Amino acid sequence: MKPFVVSYNLEDMNINFQGNKVVRRYRDIKNIFLNKDEELEKENPVIYEVFEAPVPENEGDLMFLITILYPGKVKGEFFMTKGHYHTVENTGEVYMGLRGKGLILCQTKEGDFEAVPIEPNKVVYIPPFWAHRSVNISDEPLVFFAVYPAHAGHDYGTIEKTGFLKRVFSKDGEVSFVENK
Ligand code: F6R
Ligand code: ZN
Repeated sequence: MKPFVVSYNLEDMNINFQGNKVVRRYRDIKNIFLNKDEELEKENPVIYEVFEAPVPENEGDLMFLITILYPGKVKGEFFMTKGHYHTVENTGEVYMGLRGKGLILCQTKEGDFEAVPIEPNKVVYIPPFWAHRSVNISDEPLVFFAVYPAHAGHDYGTIEKTGFLKRVFSKDGEVSFVENK
């Protein structure tokens, strides 16, 4: 393949990355939240979108993308992504904040847990073996750029079974962590 360039514009939120686009609506991912919300069930809004570049999933290639995670809450729990381990577990990832404010929840299968902030002017490093989930704690879209080894693959099943160790709620206008039982 040849070198290429893609473009994005945060002013009108036009992301022209020319690869696969993933759209996740409330009903697609409602099971990740602690509680159900009838209004959201009816409206079925887009919770997040992922705009990938057209990079093949080969070892040596680097996949890159932009995620837009919209603001909102499900009974107080901030909108978030499904979260995953990489199938090839020894692969890390870099997230760079472009807009909004969020947390990246990270955890290992050994039970380590960290929540690291993401926002413009911050770059987050997710080491190999750490699952990751993004949470939008602001009232505007959380937008971030990500790059990772293109052969990494995504294991969603493990997180679907175990969840993350903590959930993030808005409580009295503050960000509050709740143990996931
Ligand atoms: C890729 C990666 C991110 C997420 C995206 C959506 O390895 O970590 O690009 O894929 O932010 O989150 P998930 O994939 O958890 O639905
Ligand atoms: Zn990832």
